[in-house]
Amino acid sequence: MPKTINVLFLAAEADPFIKVGGLGDVAGTLPRELRALSTDELKVDVRLVLPYHAAVKAENLRPVEIFSLPRGDSEVGAETFETSIEGMPVYLINGDPIRASGSVYSFDAKLDTEKYAFFSLAAAELPKHIHWQPDVIHANDWHTALSLYANLTKRWESGSKHVAGVISLHNLPFMGAEAGAALESYGVKLAQTDLPDWARVLPLPLGMWASDAIVAVSPGYANEILAEEFGCGLQGFLSLRRDSLSGILNGIDAVSFDPATDKALGVNYDLERLKLRAENKELLQGKLGLARNPHIPLLGIVSRMDVQKGVDLAFSALKGMKRVNFQAVILGTGDPKLEESARELQNLFPEKIKAETRFDANLARQIYAGADILLMPSRYEPCGLSQMIAMRYGCVPVVRAVGGLKDTVVPNETGFVFEKAHRMSLMGAIKSAIKTLADREKWSALQRNGMSRDFSWKASAKKYLELYESLVK
Ligand code: GLC
Repeated sequence: MPKTINVLFLAAEADPFIKVGGLGDVAGTLPRELRALSTDELKVDVRLVLPYHAAVKAENLRPVEIFSLPRGDSEVGAETFETSIEGMPVYLINGDPIRASGSVYSFDAKLDTEKYAFFSLAAAELPKHIHWQPDVIHANDWHTALSLYANLTKRWESGSKHVAGVISLHNLPFMGAEAGAALESYGVKLAQTDLPDWARVLPLPLGMWASDAIVAVSPGYANEILAEEFGCGLQGFLSLRRDSLSGILNGIDAVSFDPATDKALGVNYDLERLKLRAENKELLQGKLGLARNPHIPLLGIVSRMDVQKGVDLAFSALKGMKRVNFQAVILGTGDPKLEESARELQNLFPEKIKAETRFDANLARQIYAGADILLMPSRYEPCGLSQMIAMRYGCVPVVRAVGGLKDTVVPNETGFVFEKAHRMSLMGAIKSAIKTLADREKWSALQRNGMSRDFSWKASAKKYLELYESLVK
């Protein structure tokens, strides 16, 4: 009989059921990669749990035994369905608080708190109803963090079996809003914690406090959050928990993101047929209405429109490069003000710059395959996925030396790295990239180095598994 390790994996989003950002990529890939590590000796039974948001796409749903959470004098029903993907059981939980919020992430903090508090507490109850006992609960970000808190307080109250808690930090500044009232209404008591006062009722800090392991999505970010600049006020608490804090770099879905087979591309290519890549550049230029010219450097931005991503820095750097011959394409949605600045930039330089302020997964792939340079001047970056996808596609990244960007891009070997979150600093890096691009041999060496790197999940999934094993020993 093989030994089994059971992991309940919780996230607000997971591809292909529902995806808003990078969390959806990670939660869509990591659980299946973990299951793929099963051997004759060890069965890794990871099961995914998601809120049944209105926008979730799922087929072949089977209802699970209906259960409800007591709330005040009444109760809230948790309508749970089961489906599967590549043999992995997936559970979708619905209920009034989930329906009330409408979108995956709502602008109304109160609706979001109600939704995710309910989801987290219901998910923690789910194992009982599917007659399956997890060894580990793995939560992601603030949305699911309260499941870990409930897991711990339940153990204290009922003396139930130890279930290890793991939380992955994809974005520390988003901690959720005050959830004390919601917790109390479900009968979950607020414990005495060693969190700073302001953090005592926030979902993410409570989840971190209750976890056996805290995992940042890159080693660099794990280090950065121990200091004031990126610690968001929790650096003191995190320093006390240093022993349970680690960094495990995200991977990318290397099967889906493969220039040799990617169906979104006009022409497929790989290391041996790198010359073919040029055709994708021409196609992209044509599609965007830019001059079809292989000699003009083509820059790409594929990003959420968010100050975190430093897209404003990129815009002002591009604006300042009046005398430089380049083309640029900006793809992404988010902050309406930043979307507007992107369109203004296009209006200023209609021959040079195209702003595509929408979600377009295929165009993103065509940019990775056709642009020469990808800009990622993030103010902070827990991991970042675009720079890894870009390298895999031979698009050379220009990144700021923070978090996962610093961990994945090697200066002058696979990309260009700059230090200060300042447009001049970024402009300097863009200019040296453009200068290097003129040297065909040097450039193709940069591309080849990036394309040869292994950004698949294999190594990272193994690290997560080792962590689980160390916690259940
Ligand atoms: C968040 C972070 C990003 C990370 C992603 C997946 O979106 O901002 O850096 O890559 O989560 O972990």
